[in-house]
Amino acid sequence: MKGIILAGGAGTRLYPASLSISKILLPIYDKPMIYYPICTLMLAGIKDIMIITNSRDKNNFIDVLGDGSQFGLNFQYAIQHEPRGIVDAFLIAEDFINGDSSCLVLGDNIFHGMHFIHLLKRAASRITGATIFGYNVSDPQRFGVVEFDQNYKVISIEEKPQNPKSDYAITGLYFYDSHVCEYAKTVKPSARGELEITDLNKIYLERNELNVEILGRGFAWLDTGTFDSMLQASNFVQSMELNTGVKIACLEEVAYKYGFLTAEQIEANISKFKSNSYYEYIKKVIRKRRSKLIDSNL
Ligand code: DAU
Repeated sequence: MKGIILAGGAGTRLYPASLSISKILLPIYDKPMIYYPICTLMLAGIKDIMIITNSRDKNNFIDVLGDGSQFGLNFQYAIQHEPRGIVDAFLIAEDFINGDSSCLVLGDNIFHGMHFIHLLKRAASRITGATIFGYNVSDPQRFGVVEFDQNYKVISIEEKPQNPKSDYAITGLYFYDSHVCEYAKTVKPSARGELEITDLNKIYLERNELNVEILGRGFAWLDTGTFDSMLQASNFVQSMELNTGVKIACLEEVAYKYGFLTAEQIEANISKFKSNSYYEYIKKVIRKRRSKLIDSNL
């Protein structure tokens, strides 16, 4: 399965903060925003990832993330010249996907909560069809909205409806089977001139192949597209990290725990950085796990 992070767009909603840098590289508390969607893909077990940026920001992304090897990942970069809509990701990434199944995550979407890995693995294991994720919100008009029955069978989906049929927003995380590029080519621009992800999902719905997973109570989904939601997300991450002593979306930690990299590789990678609380945390994670391994070997 291939992963795609859509990190293009003009970012004008966050001017002047994003005048000279993509909003997706701006920090959410202690790490760049893009670390969070990368973490989501890693938790789904995905290592091959295409990052789609606008032409201005591509080199900044490469400066921050390189080829992904420091996280045990393979990154490729592509440019979206105009923000033509989310479905454009599948036209741009067709060669990269190369007939495989794929998972798309929007660069400004943060997910955190219990059983997430289980839901991701279930979505990734479906060979046919598509999976979207629903989340109860107070302002569904701002999002794609999914209506489903008591068996979680999808009844309808609508993009930013004036009169939403449910309170469940469709989050910016989508799993698709190997037909996605073929279907993406048939999507026509909407009234606002964009290739809407909801129109692509409707194709799967019409084929009776659209699954929905519900992110329940206690789960956090944050779309960090505005000043307020960015601050809210930073406050959330800070509060969780300070309370629990565990970091959210520390990519080196995930790489280590998932066996993408060894402790020695991570130590070598981070040795070039001056120590701070982020790198000290990684060292602590490795120390702790090593001492547990020694204990369990006794
Ligand atoms: O966040 C979830 C929502 O994302 C879904 O509920 C909606 O169904 C979906 O259409 C989308 O709505 P948004 O209004 O949030 O989409 P927006 O145009 O803000 O784009 C989301 C991110 O994708 C943003 O970081 C910019 C990036 N993007 C967007 C477009 C249209 C691109 O990189 N290229 C694009 O062409």
